[in-house]
Amino acid sequence: MKPFRFLPLALAVLPLLASAADPMTIKLTLEPDLRNGQRLYAICASCHLPEGWGSTDGAYPQIAGQHRQVLFDQLMRIRSGERDNPAMYPFVQERTLGKGYQPLVDLVSYISRLPMHPRHQKGPWRDHREEYREGETLYQANCAQCHGKLGEGNNEAAIPMLRGQHYPYLIRQVGLIRSGLRKVNPVMTAILGRLDEEQLKKVINYVSWLPVPKDKLAPSLDWRNTDFN
Ligand code: HEC
Ligand code: HEC
Repeated sequence: MKPFRFLPLALAVLPLLASAADPMTIKLTLEPDLRNGQRLYAICASCHLPEGWGSTDGAYPQIAGQHRQVLFDQLMRIRSGERDNPAMYPFVQERTLGKGYQPLVDLVSYISRLPMHPRHQKGPWRDHREEYREGETLYQANCAQCHGKLGEGNNEAAIPMLRGQHYPYLIRQVGLIRSGLRKVNPVMTAILGRLDEEQLKKVINYVSWLPVPKDKLAPSLDWRNTDFN
């Protein structure tokens, strides 16, 4: 019965590997009502804009096209105050969006279907540069096991898609996570702690150049979300 000797250990480690694995990760099995999602998104569009593309200076993240489960988890964390976001806090409360998980499911299903920014902000080093290649090696060794070889993330495990996100936003989040101001998956926090600031800049630079599949992108920079005219 040898395998069972390791079972307790496996059970202890598993939750750490499988996403943030806390009570906030609730699997989305409810059927989304996209019309209600669109209606609720008007609350968000005042900051995130109708397209959900964020700002290239990194003040606002791109949320269009992100995995539903990731969006849901982040909204739950911001709602509870675990992820500190005072500007957004009042807009994600039940009083604003409606009671229960259904409105959140409607909302995140709408956002995840929005086409993404066709020219998000990238880092300073292109693929012929040594900094890019160092970032690639570090990313594939330290981050790809969760965020995916292509930066695609994982909906089921609530792991964010990193490709397509604005470089300055990612740099800021990594800084917040390293300093302990934003609490995430403890395995990831430990890995970030092993890399110095220069290495992280190279990793994030590499991530920012990972291509987003064409069918996820808006056709042009002039594309406008006509749900909000
Ligand atoms: C008052 C402005 C404002 C409003 C309104 C607002 N947000 Fe945000 N949101 C922000 C800012 C600023 C951030 C980035 C916070 C940070 O830097 O950690 C953010 C972050 C997020 C994130 C995290 C993205 C990530 O990948 O880290 C999600 C998801 C999000 N917003 C969704 C929404 C939704 C859905 C709504 C509507 C219910 C909404 N926001 C309304 C300002 C706003
Ligand atoms: C053990 C799995 C795991 C590993 C390894 C990991 N991450 Fe993460 N990462 C996550 C999860 C889960 C989140 C969701 C954040 C949360 O819990 O709020 C996340 C969030 C992030 C975010 C915030 C994204 C956003 O939209 O707000 C960034 C940036 C990030 N990771 C970068 C990295 C980098 C760079 C590495 C490698 C040096 C790495 N991660 C390694 C699991 C991991």
